[in-house]
Amino acid sequence: MSKLVKVAVTGAAGQIGYAMLFRLASGEIFGHDTRVALHLLEITPALKSLEGVVMELEDCAFPLLENVVISDNANVAFEGINWALLVGAKPRGKGMERSDLIRENGPIFVGQGQALNKAAKDVQILVVGNPANTNCLIAASNSDVPREQFAAMTRLDENRAAAQLAKKAGVAVNQVSNVTIWGNHSTTQYPDAENAKINGKPVYEVITDHDWLKGNFISVVQKRGATVIEARGLSSAASAANAALAHVKSMNSKTAEGQWFSGAFSSDGSYGIDHGLVFSFPVVSHGDGSYHIVQDLPLSDFAKQKLVVTAEELRQEKAVVQNLLKK
Ligand code: NAD
Ligand code: LMR
Repeated sequence: MSKLVKVAVTGAAGQIGYAMLFRLASGEIFGHDTRVALHLLEITPALKSLEGVVMELEDCAFPLLENVVISDNANVAFEGINWALLVGAKPRGKGMERSDLIRENGPIFVGQGQALNKAAKDVQILVVGNPANTNCLIAASNSDVPREQFAAMTRLDENRAAAQLAKKAGVAVNQVSNVTIWGNHSTTQYPDAENAKINGKPVYEVITDHDWLKGNFISVVQKRGATVIEARGLSSAASAANAALAHVKSMNSKTAEGQWFSGAFSSDGSYGIDHGLVFSFPVVSHGDGSYHIVQDLPLSDFAKQKLVVTAEELRQEKAVVQNLLKK
């Protein structure tokens, strides 16, 4: 008898949902020996459109797709789940910052945090809906699920940073490793090239244009979401879904020796970041849902200053949603 994993996706009728569900159902993410049950949550007006997506899932005849539950009630959708991909939230439009969404999207994560108490004990949560770090803080604070099981997505930023470094160095992207995104999924995030490697060598040795590494590289990654919105008229979807699924895969497997990946987790005080802030760190997965934050990476004064700025922004976001936080 093969294993069964129950995965909730919120906002399942949205653009990221559409780019994610078929890959989840195909067996690509949890392996070809694991059946997948999809628990899809939407707001009531989007249920009809979601029914269409469910028809398409059915029409793919995926052998590993056990069943699909759809609901507009988080208590129903989250019953017994092992993974919660919290995507459902409003995206920003042109000219907005992600934090402009906080008052509208923040309250969604109060009820969903509470409903996560219905999940399986081993549930792991990834918040994608923006502003992701602070929405994750709200969900975790309203839930009895241990905080270590919550993360907000910065994997898209990590992938963006790796792609920029590869392009500049003229190498394939899989030759870039150890890229860290520190802090908030926002324009204050710090994509760290100082600790990153290309073919095992420090990026600063391979790319000699250090002005670019300290300037344009950082701002391109920080502003990439807005640049995509400007070009597409819609926020990134396939790349966001891809990053969310990469996060899931990374959490489900042991990180290779000497490697790490980025995710925003509840701070344990590492690198001087306030306890409980949902801050993106370099992490190593143990493959069983647990992880540790990589310690003692060297940070230059330049880098330390960047961490101060992004932590301060997260403190300010936290202050704005204080009324939504339980503990
Ligand atoms: P979308 O508008 O296409 O889809 C969002 C879906 O969420 C809609 O179908 C909507 O009906 C649903 N929804 C709204 N409120 C809900 C609720 N309370 N419960 C369940 N579903 C709800 O948007 P999208 O492009 O899929 O983006 C979704 C979110 O992801 C946005 O907030 C966007 O900014 C964010 N995002 C984050 C990252 C990241 O790197 N963290 C990357 C891309 C997008
Ligand atoms: C992204 O980084 O592409 C998303 O967070 C969408 C956005 O608003 O930028």
